[in-house]
Amino acid sequence: ERSLKGAFDDYMLKEIHEQPEALGRLLEPLRGPGAPGRAPLGRGARNGSRTLPNGRGTSEAQVAGLRWLPELPTNVDEVWFVACGTAYHAARLAASYTDELADLPSRAELASEFRYGQPRVGPRSLVVVISQSGETADTLGALREAQRLGAPTVAVVNVEGSTIGREADQVLPLRAGDEIAVASTKAFTAQVVAGLLLALRLGQARGVLRPERSGGILEGLRLLPEQVAAMLAVQEARMQELATRWRDRRDLFFIGRGRDLAVAMEGQLKLKEISYLHAEALAGGELKHGTLSLITEGVPVVGLATQPDLAVKMAGNLQETRSRGAEVLVVVGPEAEGVTELAFMSVVLPQGVDPLLRPVLAVVPLQLLAYAVAKGRGLDVDKPRNLAKSVTVE
Ligand code: G6P
Repeated sequence: ERSLKGAFDDYMLKEIHEQPEALGRLLEPLRGPGAPGRAPLGRGARNGSRTLPNGRGTSEAQVAGLRWLPELPTNVDEVWFVACGTAYHAARLAASYTDELADLPSRAELASEFRYGQPRVGPRSLVVVISQSGETADTLGALREAQRLGAPTVAVVNVEGSTIGREADQVLPLRAGDEIAVASTKAFTAQVVAGLLLALRLGQARGVLRPERSGGILEGLRLLPEQVAAMLAVQEARMQELATRWRDRRDLFFIGRGRDLAVAMEGQLKLKEISYLHAEALAGGELKHGTLSLITEGVPVVGLATQPDLAVKMAGNLQETRSRGAEVLVVVGPEAEGVTELAFMSVVLPQGVDPLLRPVLAVVPLQLLAYAVAKGRGLDVDKPRNLAKSVTVE
């Protein structure tokens, strides 16, 4: 087992460090113009209702650049992303991407809730299930229910031969490599990028995406693995230092708005899963509606403000926690550098990264923090108590 972990103490740390490589693999087809000779992924359409991407409003080269992705139906009115756990946080981001780039009302739903809410999905609803293992019982149940209701389905899975991967109409494999640690890390960042790729593909196929926009995002994606590597290199020691300070605190709060809320949710889940500290994520605007009563002297708060349009609002929220004595770690975009003044420690994302890609970078220090806190507490990070890697019961 030691040899599989290589130089790392645990699978989780190894998998955190494998993220640049995993993303590079997922994005490999983007290298080279039009990625000639690459067969499309996934299977052919199961029924005859699929329409070919019409390429309207896009340049040929850019459509070609994404041709390796599964062919998606353009005759839909909405997109649902359905998943559990960490994959659900990726689903929230994916929904924000299809909403913006494919101009389709999009939502993320917990797989464990999907079937019981009498989901109004049908042939004009694209249902995308996201699952690392491809075996999660609730996610599989949701997939089957969506299919029963006539919705076209796509699975984003890491384990290609999995039940979910086999049963969905189309598959986008993550290619992140085996993920052994219970707490998901490299699968998460790959799921977020996969969601973005699907949104680009759908936006292009529907002819609603300007070529300059998609070109800019594709360029950003090419740079992303390097940027993740740089984030790891710079933040690991800093997060260790912060973990030493925070490791015996009782409650930690993660705050964000919009896409940053999904990152906050993922950050708190990582910490809870492996450190057994209580952590809670909430939307910045909700602080005043209750949780502020728990923010007192020395309470750790992780504030995310990576989205330029929400930075001012988040700064206000973080100020509210600061003035009650909170110890704040901020993860911010370069425009929000002012927010760092109220922080105990800050992580500033590099210049020039599209806001859509920022969650992938922002989550990395939070993974490192959770890992370092759990290690500092002497816990088995790969196999946390009571949790399983793949939950095959409902
Ligand atoms: C379990 C794992 C989590 C994972 C969730 C969904 O709870 O411990 O890491 O996010 O299941 O799993 P899936 O394989 O469907 O992504």
